[in-house]
Amino acid sequence: MADEAAEAAKAGRHAGRKLFENLLPSRRARMVGWYDPGVLAQSAWLMTLANIFGRHSDSRLIEALAGQPQKEFAFAADPESGEFWLDYVSDIADGWNPTYAIANAVAESWLDVQAANGEAIRTRGGDVLVFGGDAVYPYPSKEAYATRSEAPYGTAFVGADRRPHLFAVPGNHDWYDSLVAFSRTFCRPERGFAGCPTHQTRSYFALQLPHDWWLLAIDLQLGADLDEPQVRYFQDAISRMPPAAHVILCVPDPQWIYEAGYPEHASYSDGALRYFETQLLRRKVAVFLTGDLHFYKRHEREDGVQKIVSGGGGAFLHPTHAPATGHLRGGFRERACYPDVQTSRRLTWWNLVFPFLNPKYLPIPAVLYMLSAWFASATFTPADVGSLAAAFHAATTGAVRNPLNGLWLMLFIAAFVFFTDTHVRWYRVLGGILHALAHLSAAFLLGWLALVVTTRWLGLDFGGVTQMLASGLITFLGGGIAGSVVLGLYLFVSLRVFGRHSNEAFSSLRIQDYKQWVRLKIDAGGALTIHSIGIDRVPRRWAVRHGEQAGRIDPADPAATPPRLIEQLTLRPRGDDSYAVSGLDQRGRAYSRQHPAT
Ligand SMILES: [Fe+2]
Repeated sequence: MADEAAEAAKAGRHAGRKLFENLLPSRRARMVGWYDPGVLAQSAWLMTLANIFGRHSDSRLIEALAGQPQKEFAFAADPESGEFWLDYVSDIADGWNPTYAIANAVAESWLDVQAANGEAIRTRGGDVLVFGGDAVYPYPSKEAYATRSEAPYGTAFVGADRRPHLFAVPGNHDWYDSLVAFSRTFCRPERGFAGCPTHQTRSYFALQLPHDWWLLAIDLQLGADLDEPQVRYFQDAISRMPPAAHVILCVPDPQWIYEAGYPEHASYSDGALRYFETQLLRRKVAVFLTGDLHFYKRHEREDGVQKIVSGGGGAFLHPTHAPATGHLRGGFRERACYPDVQTSRRLTWWNLVFPFLNPKYLPIPAVLYMLSAWFASATFTPADVGSLAAAFHAATTGAVRNPLNGLWLMLFIAAFVFFTDTHVRWYRVLGGILHALAHLSAAFLLGWLALVVTTRWLGLDFGGVTQMLASGLITFLGGGIAGSVVLGLYLFVSLRVFGRHSNEAFSSLRIQDYKQWVRLKIDAGGALTIHSIGIDRVPRRWAVRHGEQAGRIDPADPAATPPRLIEQLTLRPRGDDSYAVSGLDQRGRAYSRQHPAT
C-alpha cells in the first residue's frame, strides 16, 4: 500500500512538473532567428560540411547495410466506414506556437473545418501521419528533435484517444548532420515518436494503402540523387504493385517550383523525379507531394495529375508571389495558393523594419561598419574632415594606395557578390557590387559624421585615443542600425522588384502565421480526397487543460483563428492513368473537371 502511495505521489509529482514545464512560455521553442550570429555561423559551417563530406559518406548506404530489411507497410481501411485517412505535415519544428497549433489540430480525432462558402466539412484524424521533411530547425541534434518536434507532438497526443502510425522523410535540415539524429529519432521502431508507433528503418519507405493507392516517399539526400539500396528497395516494392496502382510520391523538395525560379540553372531540374517515374515506376504518378517551401501551392495537369507543395507545418512562412508559378513545365497550371499573393506581397514590407525583427543581427554590421570607417579614415588629415568631398577623396586615395585597405574593400564586395541570390552571373556581380557599395557608402558617411561630431562638436583632439574610441563607438552603434536597415531595404527591393532572395527576405520576418497541412482520405469507392487545412493566425497564448486529457494544452488567444478549409479536391481514377477532379476551390465554389484522357 505504502509503495503504491509513494508511486502515485511520484507519478503525480512527475505529471505536475510536466504540466508546469509546458505552462512556462520560456520552455517553448521560439521561432529560429535565422540572422542571429550563432545561427548564421553554425548554418554556414554545417552546410559546408554536409555539402563537402555528405556526398562522400552516404549514411543511407550505411543505414541500408546495418539496418533491418524493410518491406512496404500495408494499411487497411476502417472496417466500418470503409475509409482510410492520412495526414501529411511538412516543415514542422520551428517555434512552439505554429508547430503546436498544427500538431494540436492534427491530434484531434475529428476536426470540423469551415470552407470559404461557410460549409462545415468533417475530417477524421489520419490513421497514418507522415512528416514530409525538415522535422528540425535550424540544424539537427538529439535535443533539437526533442524540444522542437517531439515536445509539441507529444503534448498534442497527451490524452488523445488515438496514436497514428508515424513515418518521416528527411529534408535538407535533417541532413545537416548526415542524418544521424533523424535516424535515431524516426528509424528505430522500438522507440516510437511522441507516443506514436514508428516502423521505418530507412529514410525512405513505401506504404500500401487501400484501393490500390500507394504512397512512396523517397530520400534524395542534399542533391537530387537516389542511392543504389534505395533504388533496389523501390524496385522490389514496385514489383508487387498491381497494374492499376495509383501512386502518391512524397519528395523532399519541389524541384518544379525551383526550376520555374531558376530556369537557367541546370541543378534545379526534376531529373531524379523523372528517372524515378519513367525508369523505376514505369507509370504516371498521380500526386506529387512535398514541403521545403513553407506555403501551400497546387498545380494540376490536364489528366488530373497533381503537384502539391504543403510545407506549412510550423516553419516561418515563405513568399507565394515570387517566383511566378502560374504555369509550369509539362502543362501544370496553378490551381491553389495559400496565402494569396497579395498577402505575400504586403508582408514583404516588414523588411523595412528589419533591425526590430532581428535585433541579434546588429553586432555583425556594427563591427563591419566600424572596421570599414576605420580603414576609410586611416589616411585622413584634420583638413579632410572639413568637407564630405575632401573626406571622400582622402578615403578613395587611401583605398588605392594602402594594400590592406584595398584588400578589405575587395573582400567586402566579394562577400556580397557571393551572397547575391541569382544564377545569372552578370546580375549576381552587379547586384552584389551595388549592395556592397550601399553599405560602404553608409559606413563612410557614418564614419565622417563620427569624425565631425567628435572633433568639431565635442572638440576632441583629431587622432587622439579618446577621439578614436568615441568615433569607433558611434560608427559601431550607428553601423548596427544602418547596416540592418540597408540589408532590409536590399531584401525588400530584391523580392518586390526582382523576385529574388525569397528565402532570405522571408526568413528575416519569422512569420508564424498562415500554417497548413494536408489531410488525405481514400473512400470506400477508391476516390482520393485531399483537404488542405490552414490556420491564418496561430495562437500566441495557451492554457493547460485540466480534468479529461489533463496536461494537454489548448489555445487561449482570442485573436487566433481556428483551422479552416483552404480547398478540397477529389481524384477519381478513370482507369487510364487519368483522374476526374472535383472539389471546392479557395473561394468555396464547387467545381468538377472531366479531363480528357491523355
Ligand atoms: Fe523547411
